[in-house]
Amino acid sequence: MKVLASAPAKIILFGEHSVVYGKPAIAAAINLRTYVRAEFNNSGRIKIEAKDIKTPGLIVSFSENEIYFESDYGKAAEVLSYVRQAIELVRDEADANGRGITVSITSQIPVGAGLGSSAAVAVSTIGAVSKLLGLELSNEEIARLGHRVELLVQGVSSGIDPTVSALGGFIHYENGKFEHLPFVNLPVVVGYTGSSGSTKELVAMVRDTYEDIPDIIEPILAAMGKVVEKARETLLLGEDGRWKLGRLGELMNINHGLLDALGVSTKKLSELVYAARTAGALGAKITGAGGGGCMYALAPEKQSEVATAITIAGGTPMVTEISREGLRIEVVVP
Ligand code: PMV
Repeated sequence: MKVLASAPAKIILFGEHSVVYGKPAIAAAINLRTYVRAEFNNSGRIKIEAKDIKTPGLIVSFSENEIYFESDYGKAAEVLSYVRQAIELVRDEADANGRGITVSITSQIPVGAGLGSSAAVAVSTIGAVSKLLGLELSNEEIARLGHRVELLVQGVSSGIDPTVSALGGFIHYENGKFEHLPFVNLPVVVGYTGSSGSTKELVAMVRDTYEDIPDIIEPILAAMGKVVEKARETLLLGEDGRWKLGRLGELMNINHGLLDALGVSTKKLSELVYAARTAGALGAKITGAGGGGCMYALAPEKQSEVATAITIAGGTPMVTEISREGLRIEVVVP
């Protein structure tokens, strides 16, 4: 028997960083997916084949007599620990320890860009392997197992990434509670700077500033919380009318300015954000922790212009939409 499952990447639409201080956030699944094929093998071992996962690649620099290589392949190895934990957890649940399983992964999601590649790989692995072992799990249960995988691999996690990846659509998150918001079609362009920031270091940096000057930082975080609530109200109104998209764009720009005030933007991120706005995006902001990673733009009827502008500004554009679907079982071959 063989099973092919897939799960999407996510972007944080509003509320990164302020969410760490108990404010709400909104995230959504996007149409970039990780595919995992699972089948039994006779060795009794777990075998993982990662043939095509997107890593930022290689940078080479030269001095007089030396060549220096920098690579992000360590990040690819990190992804594999999520796969391994996911398989072990599902084998445990199914009382199938010792059963040999091979999984093959291909992915459209760049690793280490803040787009939730680890959660997508964990969720699609859990989906494929649980089906292979005959477990009937709901997507909610798979989201919870995905959260457990994150806790095992990285120690702390809010669980928002595996929740969005398993359930799809829009998720409003506040103090550990998730609410599924109704689906609206948002034409977005994600712009990847090509480098990644460390979420842990950026969260610590904001914490230092907060402790140093709380009277200045607290109102910024409070404003971010209000931006998220206004965005939730706007999304709840549904899809009828351009001005509502305009309002979302406006809120994105405000949220970006507030993130910049916290110090998590970079020159490259700001360049991609302004290039997207100049090319006609209704709004553009950082998505995720910042310090590198990605921005996203809301660009109805302007996706290709915005993608070109992002390329000219030195980023890698990914034209995409919000994914209604989360985890999907693609094929089951008996
Ligand atoms: O790096 P990402 O995309 O997973 O985003 C991190 C979001 C933060 O709010 C900065 C941190 C967190 O734990 O919520």
